[in-house]
Amino acid sequence: MAKKIILDCDPGHDDAIALILAHGNPEIELLAVTTVHGNQTIEKVTRNALAVARIAGITGVPFAAGASRPLVRTAEVADSIHGESGLDGPVLPSPLTEVDPRHAVDLIIDTIMENPPATVTLVPTGALTNIALAVRKEPRIAERVKEVVLMGGGYHGGNWSAAAEFNIVIDPEAAHIVFNEKWKLTMVGLDLTHQALATPDVVAAIAAVGTGPSRFVVELLEFFAESYRTAQGFEHPPVHDPCAVALVIDPTVMTVARVPLNVELTGTLTLGMTVADFRAEAPADCTTHAALALDHAKFWSLIVDALERIGDPG
Ligand code: BDR
Ligand code: CA
Repeated sequence: MAKKIILDCDPGHDDAIALILAHGNPEIELLAVTTVHGNQTIEKVTRNALAVARIAGITGVPFAAGASRPLVRTAEVADSIHGESGLDGPVLPSPLTEVDPRHAVDLIIDTIMENPPATVTLVPTGALTNIALAVRKEPRIAERVKEVVLMGGGYHGGNWSAAAEFNIVIDPEAAHIVFNEKWKLTMVGLDLTHQALATPDVVAAIAAVGTGPSRFVVELLEFFAESYRTAQGFEHPPVHDPCAVALVIDPTVMTVARVPLNVELTGTLTLGMTVADFRAEAPADCTTHAALALDHAKFWSLIVDALERIGDPG
């Protein structure tokens, strides 16, 4: 049976690829797509999500816009990585579909509560503002979801500060709420996603698919590679967000350890740090997990397979 997910995202080059992977993989049933401030403003990331839907031929899935700013702090965007539009590089088509009239938080709650218990996985690939608001508005979703598999954080260090990763540090209070709920949570953090590098052989395999969506992904990766070269000194860009979707599709694509995790809220140098306690075996009631090591070939073949399956939607 297909795995039902809600993708909560801020497209974003890697979010766009996560969306394409979720749509193109037969193991996944994409129930809803919700957007959150982050890589760019909520207006821009929502428009980008709808543009990706058109390119990939995603129809019949509700898309809803969510929080435009963090719970406590001032909104911050990642234009040094994703550009002015949030999806710079390819020419974006105008969306064909309308955004759902519901707020993302309500769409998340409705979707989880309408589906049988333990069937819906939440996959956040942006700031955790919508997810925190949803679980505060409807606490029953914490028991009802199957699990939360998120891209964010890291146990070795950060990318937006020395200690903290972008998705967590732009709304650390929201992340603190989400990491401290009693749902099963897996942090697919930088330790893992920095292994998901778009090396030249990967880009060539994607280009060889030879469709509109594959050209779109190649153009995304070209812009992303240049950003990561100039802003963060990477030879090849780490493609973070599809790693979370890949874990839902195939748990053998990475190794994962159960480990206590929490989010630093008071450190002056470490605000937004995700602290993992690897000192001893995790206590029996620990529900948090961290992703460790990626099977690079298996991961990228999932992306290529999804693009082949999507073909040219026209
Ligand atoms: C995360 O930050 C965003 O810029 C990316 O889309 C990804 O979700 C990586 O730190
Ligand atoms: Ca993202």
